[in-house]
Amino acid sequence: MHIVTCAAPVNIAIVKYWGKRDETLMLPLNSSLSVTLNPVQLRAKTTVAISREFDKSRMWLNSVEQNIDNPRLQNVFREIKQRAYRCHSEKNNCGNREDMLNWHIHICSENNFPTSAGLASSAAGYSCLVSALAYLFGVDGEISDIARLGSGSACRSMYGGFVEWDMGRCNDGSDSVARPVASNEHWPELRALILVVTDDNKKTKSTEGMQKSVNTSELLKTRVERIVPHRINEIKEAIRDKDFDRFAEITMKESNQLHAVCLDTFPPIEYLTEVSRRIMNLVHRFNKLCGRTKVAYTFDAGPNACLFLLEEDVPRVLSLIRHFFRPVNSCFESFIHGLPIEVP
Ligand code: DP6
Repeated sequence: MHIVTCAAPVNIAIVKYWGKRDETLMLPLNSSLSVTLNPVQLRAKTTVAISREFDKSRMWLNSVEQNIDNPRLQNVFREIKQRAYRCHSEKNNCGNREDMLNWHIHICSENNFPTSAGLASSAAGYSCLVSALAYLFGVDGEISDIARLGSGSACRSMYGGFVEWDMGRCNDGSDSVARPVASNEHWPELRALILVVTDDNKKTKSTEGMQKSVNTSELLKTRVERIVPHRINEIKEAIRDKDFDRFAEITMKESNQLHAVCLDTFPPIEYLTEVSRRIMNLVHRFNKLCGRTKVAYTFDAGPNACLFLLEEDVPRVLSLIRHFFRPVNSCFESFIHGLPIEVP
């Protein structure tokens, strides 16, 4: 038996991915950009074992057995095995390793945060799984595109710091990969606060929400063609210049536009709750009071907020949140993290 354990962090999208041009290869309609959070507070941890003794492949998520026939999981297994085969034939090193490709796999994964509450748990989960499988089967080179087959945003959790997922142009998806834009050390003062409003499962999963938006939202078309390419360039400049005002404005506009697209979807999809909207209002009121932008919010496909701010403002903003938001269940403070994958 061979066994390995990996941990992978959550990534929070600043420029959002919403909509696919290919559902099987998980190719997005637009490029996106995220920051990778510290895996101590928010991470997936996956142990993968392969053995010739196992009679079938099995998977457990947070101790509950899952259906292994899930097509995304099967696509990931197939791609890993094909690449492993290719890597070993190139190195004339088939033998044992090739035999291992036929063994069954046992996967045990757990998150230390709410699984389906819009905190990118599938991203961390698939990123972790792909890293573990690549390690076990000896696959080297680019593997973010394999993580993408599990969940689009997972490709961004393969790196630390600020990460761009290039939408790519090729039909086979070979150029739709994640790339680091800047390391965490580039902007060490930047902090994220995750406000967990609820850990309920979201009503509409991202995959289904995106499909509905692609089919019905006019705003999504305009966004993809005319707005996102410009914003990707703008946010990269803001990161390069460590320009918090600009970074914050794009971050909030991106979040608002994602949720505007959701409302423009027919029937509309609502991820934000009354508490989410109160958080947004508080951020705008606080920024106005300070006379400059001190905090930015962003929401993915759920009501939980991620706030970005600079280290010096963390104590003030935390006490504000604690004062006004009893409904916020828990709050994590996180650094932008640099080295997401650990193979102990
Ligand atoms: C709102 O990556 O979860 O968080 O590719 O269908 O698995 P699938 O969707 P997923 O969608 C994430 C959507 C988002 C925005 C983002 O992370 O960019």
